Amino acid sequence: MPHASLTVDPAFVVGAIDRRLFGSFVEHLGRAVYDGIYEPAHATADEDGFRKDVIELVRELGVSTVRYPGGNFVSGYRWEDGIGPRERRPRRLDLAWHSLETNEIGLDEFARWSAKAGTELMLAVNLGTRGVQEALDLLEYANVRSGSTLSDLRVANGTPEPHGVVLWCLGNEMDGPWQLGHRSADDYGKLAAQTARAMRQLDPRVRLIACGSSNRQMPTFGAWERTVLEHTYDEIDYLSCHAYYHETPGDLGGFLASPVDMDRFIESVAATIDHVRALRPGRRRVDISFDEWNVWYVDRYHEEDKVTDPQVWPVAPRILEDSYTVADAVVVGGLLMSLLRHADRVTAASLAQLVNVIAPIMTEPGGPSWRQTTFFPFATTSRLARGVTLAVEVETTTYSTEAYGDVPVVDAVATHDASAGETAVFLVNRSVDSAATVSVDVRGVGASSVAEAVTLWDDDVHARNTLDHPDRVGLRPTPSAVLDGGTLRVELPPVSWTAVSLR
Ligand code: AHR
Repeated sequence: MPHASLTVDPAFVVGAIDRRLFGSFVEHLGRAVYDGIYEPAHATADEDGFRKDVIELVRELGVSTVRYPGGNFVSGYRWEDGIGPRERRPRRLDLAWHSLETNEIGLDEFARWSAKAGTELMLAVNLGTRGVQEALDLLEYANVRSGSTLSDLRVANGTPEPHGVVLWCLGNEMDGPWQLGHRSADDYGKLAAQTARAMRQLDPRVRLIACGSSNRQMPTFGAWERTVLEHTYDEIDYLSCHAYYHETPGDLGGFLASPVDMDRFIESVAATIDHVRALRPGRRRVDISFDEWNVWYVDRYHEEDKVTDPQVWPVAPRILEDSYTVADAVVVGGLLMSLLRHADRVTAASLAQLVNVIAPIMTEPGGPSWRQTTFFPFATTSRLARGVTLAVEVETTTYSTEAYGDVPVVDAVATHDASAGETAVFLVNRSVDSAATVSVDVRGVGASSVAEAVTLWDDDVHARNTLDHPDRVGLRPTPSAVLDGGTLRVELPPVSWTAVSLR
């Protein structure tokens, strides 16, 4: 049976955990907005047409920020289509997802939803088909109290208080040839820097995110980051990372090691940020916003869901509705551990996405909503990972993967909240056939009891929650989690994710 040991000591702090690490993402894509968060005819709909059952689940998930409105969608979006009287809003072709956008929901409505869900709004500006002026117009509409044409327009549209949006993405995945208005790193870097300078002139409180690479496999990865940072370093606060993973038949072990790829991705981007920083005077820091991450069976979209007929532009089609397995949830838990492990560099992140579209929450029109398997590690980590991340060195056996070489069988991350006297240990057993035992030396944190120990696992690693069986998979008590003197001993089933909270 594999064994792992580690020491949790509050002296070894990696960094403070920013709540923005627990963000998510709602794009105008498929049924994320329409028939997702918004369904005016639904039995639970509130006065604005938002499903209250979904809002409750978003609150339970513990989401901090929500990125909006895209994604690829934003690169062709005219934000002003989504404001003012609904009956006058245009119906537009969304080229990114080959859909018809009715614009029933726009900035003011979404900001209302975000407040109801208790989340912070993070907006993206269109730097695909648009530029500096339109970004400024949107910022004026969103953040200026009143007295100018666009701020007065917001007031006239029924939102007297400014939205006060702090986080702004300067475009989306501009390195990707699929992106409307895709540019070279040089061209994007110049445009992002100009837009950032202009936005700060209008509202110095904004925190700006420049596009990094769409994934680590992009042929321009590394060079893109360096060039974009050379243009923007003094103007931005974050550089973005995006990554999606999926299981390939016959390679469950490789899939479970996906967080190793995320670790390497973050460390490479952090090194590039440090390189560009070293070349200039001043101490300005640029953090990482990992504002798209998840498991996504992207081939299924291209091979099965994608509509391409130029005469057919569906409204809110059922696309990217991946149904997640136990193994997917173990990977999602592991990816969150990777983000926590880099809390000193990653200070914002967005699980992509939130409702129906590669999402932890699913809905049926006129019917119920339910939690996917991936809901559970996210909700638990968001609730328990407080304070700071502590550095841990895990001694364990390794196994071999084709994609990432030898990787540890057991992964672990620890967090510590000194003021609350709480410590949390998150563990993953990547073995596909053996349980693992773990001993954690916790003498340093002085814990006296196990407050909670939950595990996500199942004899069928491909079990899922569906409309017909919405509660098939859930968290279970950890088979064994015992605090014995200063040592926490935990038993982890094969292919499992565990959270242990100590007081
Ligand atoms: O989240 C789905 C899509 O993935 C987003 O629109 C895009 O930014 C990324 O490629």
